[in-house]
Amino acid sequence: MGYLTTDKKKITAKTFIKMKQEGEKIAMLTSYDFTTAGIVDAAGIDGILIGDSASNVMLGNSTTLPITIDDMIVFARAVARACHHCCVVCDMPFGSYQTSREDGIRNAVKIMKATGVDAVKMEGGVEIADTVKGIVNAGIPVMGHLGLTPQSIHQFGGYGLRAKEEAEAEKLLSDAKALEAAGVFGITLEKVPAALAKKVTESVHVPTIGIGAGNGCDGQILVYADALGMTNGFKPKFLRHFADMNSCMTKGVEEYVKCVKDCSFPSETESY
Ligand code: KIV
Repeated sequence: MGYLTTDKKKITAKTFIKMKQEGEKIAMLTSYDFTTAGIVDAAGIDGILIGDSASNVMLGNSTTLPITIDDMIVFARAVARACHHCCVVCDMPFGSYQTSREDGIRNAVKIMKATGVDAVKMEGGVEIADTVKGIVNAGIPVMGHLGLTPQSIHQFGGYGLRAKEEAEAEKLLSDAKALEAAGVFGITLEKVPAALAKKVTESVHVPTIGIGAGNGCDGQILVYADALGMTNGFKPKFLRHFADMNSCMTKGVEEYVKCVKDCSFPSETESY
């Protein structure tokens, strides 16, 4: 109990490291709004990421590049208000830390002050390690993100599997070590071979959180709309649908439309 929270079991960046040490898997999902985050938090998730995938999921863009720091702050504020238990992590969007170390620190501080999240996440390895160190030194927990890093999509030329070749796999391993040395509390590994993700997981002391990175990671993360089957037609190999929200919502909307049209809604008991 204290100023931070009334929940003695509130999950923090430190808890994530303890969970790895104790061999407890870490379950994360994204969320971008108050209502969804409240459901996800209450259902027992360990961490929520306000991913810059909000650019796709919430704003309809084809990449994560257009979303701004001010957009992210609106989503992150709503999610942080809803979460009482899990660790809340906000993505730093494209352009908010690539320009300079100082910009990175300033923008991480801006997110923390404006939103109430617990940590930030950044894409990249050795090339951002100094910026990560500066943000950690400012007292802000940072999660890294390696492998498929969507903010660099134009460099990769597509959303395919990363680090299949030996040279890229070795670079990824040294990037993970550089991030660990810079002070991150966790590393997201996106769309890399399961054997490589396992090797990285065994080589660092901070937890790895996989998405399309196999079962050898310390935890898993999915975009909630994908995991709950809202995004019809998007079904990459790594994705499992844990619910069929698309059908559920479609049926509900169809039923509502029908009841309005046939005048059965609202009924007498639903009227004043
Ligand atoms: O933006 C996002 O949702 C992410 C996850 C896919 C890891 O970075």
